[in-house]
Order: sequence, then C-alpha cells, then structure tokens
Amino acid sequence: MTDTRPLSERFPGDFVFGVATAAFQIEGASKADGRKPSIWDAFSNMPGRVFERHNGDIACDHYNRLEEDLDLIQALGVSAYRFSIAWPRVIPEGTGPINEKGLDFYDRLVDGLRARGIKAFATLYHWDLPLALMGDGGWTARKTAHAFERYATTIAARLGDRLDAVATFNEPWCSVWLSHLYGIHAPGERNMDAALHALHFTNLAHGLGVASIRSQRPELPVGLVLNAHQTYPGSERPDDLAAERRAFDFHNGVFFGPVFAGAYPESFMSALGHRMPQIEPGDMETIHQPLDWWGLNYYTPMRVVADPATGAEFPATLPAPAMAEVKTDIGWEVHAPALGDLIRRLNAAYRLPECYITENGACYNMDVEDGEVDDQPRLDYIAAHLDVTASLIAEGYPMRGYFAWSLMDNFEWAEGYRMRFGIVHVDYDTQVRTIKKSGHWYKALAEQFPRGN
Ligand code: NOJ
Repeated sequence: MTDTRPLSERFPGDFVFGVATAAFQIEGASKADGRKPSIWDAFSNMPGRVFERHNGDIACDHYNRLEEDLDLIQALGVSAYRFSIAWPRVIPEGTGPINEKGLDFYDRLVDGLRARGIKAFATLYHWDLPLALMGDGGWTARKTAHAFERYATTIAARLGDRLDAVATFNEPWCSVWLSHLYGIHAPGERNMDAALHALHFTNLAHGLGVASIRSQRPELPVGLVLNAHQTYPGSERPDDLAAERRAFDFHNGVFFGPVFAGAYPESFMSALGHRMPQIEPGDMETIHQPLDWWGLNYYTPMRVVADPATGAEFPATLPAPAMAEVKTDIGWEVHAPALGDLIRRLNAAYRLPECYITENGACYNMDVEDGEVDDQPRLDYIAAHLDVTASLIAEGYPMRGYFAWSLMDNFEWAEGYRMRFGIVHVDYDTQVRTIKKSGHWYKALAEQFPRGN
C-alpha cells in the first residue's frame, strides 16, 4: 500500500542524507602539487574518446575552491559527504614515493568536514588509476592489486582516524566491463580476456584493501560500492528469460558472488572460467571477507533481450538502452520500482550487511535562468527513489542512508561536461555554483536529519 505520509516522517532519525562526488570529476588542478596523470587524463586526451575531448584539467576547480565547496555542502543541510581520493595525487606513480602535498589536500578536506559536523565517506578508487601502472598492464595485472593494497594502507594510516566510513572501490562494473570489455571508459579496451583479468584482480584488490584498512584501523567501517543492475527480461520468451538470468550473473554475480559468498557464479565459470587468470590459493578467502556495509549506486534498470549474435554466451555487448517513455537527458529509463526490486532480489540471493544508497540521481541539463535552475524532473526523480527507499525500510531492509549524485554538475566521463547530474549548477566559465530547485528541496528534507548515524 502506498504510504502517503511526507517523506520526512518515513525515515529514522539517524538516517544519513548526503551528497556525493568523485575526485577526477570535480578536482581539476591536474598538475598541482606533484599529481601525476591518471588513465583518465590520457584517455580524455585521445581523439574520439570523450565528448569534444573534454578533460579533467580544470573540472569544477574544487582543488582550489575547497573551503567554498565545503561551505556549500554545509549550506545544503546534509549530514554526510561522499568523495573519492585521487590515487595519482597521493602515490603519483602508483607505486614508489608518497606525495605529502597530495595527502595534505585530503587532510584539509576531512578536517574541514569535521569542523562543520559533516561525516566523511571516502572512496579509495573511483577510476583514476595512476597512468604509470599501465606499464605493468593496469588492472589486468596481479601487481596492481598489490599496489592498491599499499595505497589503501597509506590512506587508512593517514586519514583513517577522521573518516566515518571507507569504500575500497566505486562501481567495479565500470572499471572492469565498461573499461576493458565495452571500451567506453579508460583505458578503452574491448577484450574479454583482458576484462576477465581485470575482474579477478579488482576483486582481489578489494579484498587486500579491506585487510589492510582493518589492520590499520579496526574501528573504521569498511565497505564496497556496487552499481548492481536490476535486470528484467525483454519478454516472456524462453530465450529472453535465459538471457536475463545470464545477464544478472554477468553484471552482478561476478562481484556479489566472490565478495559476499566466496565464489564466482557457476553459470559464469562454466562459460568463461577457462579464460580467467590463475586464481591462486587464498585469493577467494581474501576477497570474501565480511564487510561492515555496502553501497548501491542505482540509476536505471537493464532490459535484457536474447542476442542472436552471442547466443547462449555471455553479453559481449552492452544491452541497448530501453525504449522507455520516461527518460532522463542522458537517455536512461526512469523506473523507481526497480530500486526496490533490486534490493529485495539481492538480499534474497546474498547475505548482505547494512546498505547505503551511495548514488542516485538524474541527468537533466537545464541552465540558470534569472538566477534559478528549475529542475523539477530531477526533484521528482529523487523523491520517487526516496519513496521506494522509505518503503524498503518499512519492510525491514537495513537501509542506512542516501547520497544524491551529485553535489554539483561535473565531468561525466565519456560524456564530458555536457551531461549534468548536480543538485547544484556549475557555470564552467565562471565556476559560479547555483543551488538548483532540487537542491533547495533536498536541503529542506536533509535538514530534518541533522545527526546521521
Ligand atoms: C556512477 C559513477 O560512480 C559516477 O562517477 C557517475 O558520474 C554517475 N554514475 C552518473 O553516471
């Protein structure tokens, strides 16, 4: 039954309302204070990869506007901020010397959050791999998992005392499949064997990272952020139903299985196991460690139809966008019930810890008019997904928080700056920030939950 109470009455008092960003998408200052290039600096400078060759050199200039942006976060009335740390600022070559100046920036960031009473949710890897690590093969090499382990140790030791939660990876689905199989994200490979290597070594890096964070900071809640896909069959035809089941394993099971159940899905292993890299003794135990929390990034469902070109194989191409009636400006179907279907399905399949929605939001590209941004569709989108979240809480699922993606418009990866997800508008010529209608609305709600948990 629909719950008609206002949203503010449907969340527990300790529910966390936050906003989220990622380093490469907002920081800019790509050469400042010893930072070296990441794979995204290189990728965005190649022709034909990113819309109009936009890059991260300036982005939202957040690196130079830290205090102003912290004040903005505070003005939004949220109790938490989710951000990522740029590995190439901290260990510019990936391995080797640690860059104190890079660490200083994140010191200022976490101290600034604490001073304002805002919780710090840090992500260690949001896709900006130090370019130097490509010399060894990047994520297709086991060595990179060990480089990540050292990076995780460095961050936990230096910042862990002032973080409220840490995630090892953001959306490994993107840094594995989108980056190595579908060729859309850096480094832009289209190679199943490379992707399978990246898959296992990313999962391994996650496990090694969890262990190293725990050894430094046993009290710090450690999690993983996954963009699980709610897959629906395109029709009731047997071949579509079978394709949907394979897609669920391929897009979700290859991460959830190892991390939460200690094994890759059987269907996946029987089809592709022989092409996986060597899984060494102890790897699966390292990957399968209890987590304190997990994060779900949810935007849109995936409609799966059988692909005659791949037959019973696993999806070598990305399903085409659904022919939906309601779409955001990036073309993604709007379907809030999928969020509920997904949480129920995943909890039935795996033993999951408490959950934060670490990203949810919508791309609408309206601009400032008379000093205001009227982005009613974004407001409606967020409200609809919060409504589903509140229902999940009422059903007993341990939903602990919600982070709007994004604090502000930013570098939307292969789409460059043309796609806007912010609840705050950014004018890239002047760097002026303007809180959108959705931002004012979100503030009014978030302010009623000042504590967070
Ligand atoms: C997920 C990613 O984590 C984030 O970086 C991206 O901007 C949003 N989705 C929107 O595509």
